[in-house]
Amino acid sequence: MDGFEINKIVAAVIIGVLLVFGVGKFTDYLFYVEKPAQPAYVVEAPVLKVSSSSNNASTVDIAKLLSMGTVEHGQKVFKKCSACHVVAKGGKNKIGPALYGVMGRKSASISDYKYSKALIAHSKTWSYDEMNAYLIKPQAHIKGTKMAFAGLKSEKDRASVMLYMNSKSDNPLTKP
Ligand code: HEC
Repeated sequence: MDGFEINKIVAAVIIGVLLVFGVGKFTDYLFYVEKPAQPAYVVEAPVLKVSSSSNNASTVDIAKLLSMGTVEHGQKVFKKCSACHVVAKGGKNKIGPALYGVMGRKSASISDYKYSKALIAHSKTWSYDEMNAYLIKPQAHIKGTKMAFAGLKSEKDRASVMLYMNSKSDNPLTKP
């Protein structure tokens, strides 16, 4: 092997290395997309963070949530609940406990209703925060609750039904 051969080999190696790195750089350049500093349009949607677990502090903006609902719409939404609940004053327990005055009431506090152990252990007051978290997905918020209801996905529905239930009370909660 003479010097010339070695030079060729060295050159080939260098070219190889250059090609590998060079192509990488080149494609970086080819596919470089300049990101605009500002998105072209911003979608303004009410973003409500919801904590699914029952023990950490909720981050829901309740005032904002409630502003989406109306008592009238809540009355319609409550039809989904009325298979199991009565919200009218003096209403009896059905499959679920009587709900007159439930907003602001201690959970599991109807004396002649047989609550699940889970709801008794939960032991909270039905604030807007608590009720909202429960109504999203009851079994997720209180594991073992015997309320066989899938939940209300719509924020408007939850806000409305809370406002409606709050209107059925001797001591309605004040708006947050
Ligand atoms: C299929 C029947 C059923 C439906 C539908 C239902 N619930 Fe219930 N609900 C129950 C049962 C049963 C309990 C008792 C839960 C327990 O003891 O764990 C309960 C408990 C509750 C409680 C707790 C009351 C308390 O005294 O602490 C609230 C609040 C409630 N339901 C609201 C609603 C709302 C609002 C709806 C409609 C959006 C609804 N429920 C739909 C059966 C139902």
